[in-house]
Amino acid sequence: MLRSPGTLRIEPARRFRGRFRLPGDKSISHRAALLGAMATGRTRIENYSEAADCASTLGCLSALGVPVHRQGAHVEIEGPGVEGWRAPAGVLDAENSGSTLRMLAGALAGRPFRSVLTGDASLRRRPVERVAVPLRAMGARVATTEGRPPLTIEGGSLRGIAYELPVASAQVKTAVLLAGLQAGGETSVREPSPSRDHTERMLPAFGADVRREGLRATVRGGTALHGTDLRVPGDASSAAFLVVAALVLPDAGVELEDVLLSPTRTAFLDVLRAMGGRVEARLLATDPEPVGTIVASSSELRGTRVDPALVASLIDEVPALAAAAAHAEGRFTVTGARELRVKESDRIAALVEGLSALGADVQELPDGLVVEGGPRLHGAPLHAHGDHRIAMALAVAALGADGPSELDDAACVAVSFPGFFDLAARASGRA
Ligand code: S3P
Repeated sequence: MLRSPGTLRIEPARRFRGRFRLPGDKSISHRAALLGAMATGRTRIENYSEAADCASTLGCLSALGVPVHRQGAHVEIEGPGVEGWRAPAGVLDAENSGSTLRMLAGALAGRPFRSVLTGDASLRRRPVERVAVPLRAMGARVATTEGRPPLTIEGGSLRGIAYELPVASAQVKTAVLLAGLQAGGETSVREPSPSRDHTERMLPAFGADVRREGLRATVRGGTALHGTDLRVPGDASSAAFLVVAALVLPDAGVELEDVLLSPTRTAFLDVLRAMGGRVEARLLATDPEPVGTIVASSSELRGTRVDPALVASLIDEVPALAAAAAHAEGRFTVTGARELRVKESDRIAALVEGLSALGADVQELPDGLVVEGGPRLHGAPLHAHGDHRIAMALAVAALGADGPSELDDAACVAVSFPGFFDLAARASGRA
């Protein structure tokens, strides 16, 4: 694979092998930085994600007057306590990061100053009313731009609420909990189906009072958080692309060490197993998060129907699963995934376009897609639509095609996994 500034040529790979450690999980890194900034005292974060999105979170925290020191994957935050946050001099730019914008909105809801949160063109197309609604109910003044960023928050004294999330969203759940930490009384969030629970798992290390009963999480406001030391396990969502590459390519086997194995993030492994994938997760630690090794190797895959109830816990992995389905026999169906329409791109449309260009038989549904496996894929011009997960999914599908492909805008993988193409080149023996 040759790297060029814009378009990347992707040659089919005959092998895909290696043992890798992945950069820190993006979701956990965002939360560690936000909670470290809300706490008083030093927080040291090891294996902080190298994703551009997580740098966006640090940038916004610095703009709020939080001292942040970073050396590669080591981040130290001199937490001033949330009362120590200062009104930003300008607009807070979350760039491409929906997590930064939505979760930070929750923390800012309790701050007695005005802040404006915005992002790049992709983020400015994404819905934020879902986070504004509960924050308003807690007493913050929140204005959106026709439901999208820029988002203006004038925070202040908040009251606790019991909130029922209409759509499972870990970002909105986290925003409400971060506001709840600053509110009077208790704040609880109930979700319709389980979404990633990293915030709930991390809060006790910072001294917060959090209770969990089924699909409800409750925090008590007014407890001062203190800094702590954390280590971020490897990114589970980045792992998905490498696992799928190992399953669909010949002469392939990968071992991914020190990966996050939270059940709220690894439902994609169950789907791949149901597809006949030879993939195993070896759990080595459970506290505060399950962590271990994923081992995957070349497999004959067949299609499956993804249970819509699982979709919230594999929403970011649908692009990787669709790439696997394009190399499987038989029908693969995913429904109940309308949220994919409002991610960094319209992921349903982008996958249908890209996989069809490669010769796959794909049908677009309003809330998902159907892939009729069977046809061999051929090389094609591919469009990432500026979306990191679309770029990686199409790249993995293209590695298993019969001829070379050209992927535009391949550099957008830096949003979550800057080293993806280098690692893929090493695994396929080209580096
Ligand atoms: C995330 C939650 C999910 C996910 C995103 C990261 C998080 O978004 O798609 O990539 O870290 O909480 P939603 O909360 O919008 O479902």
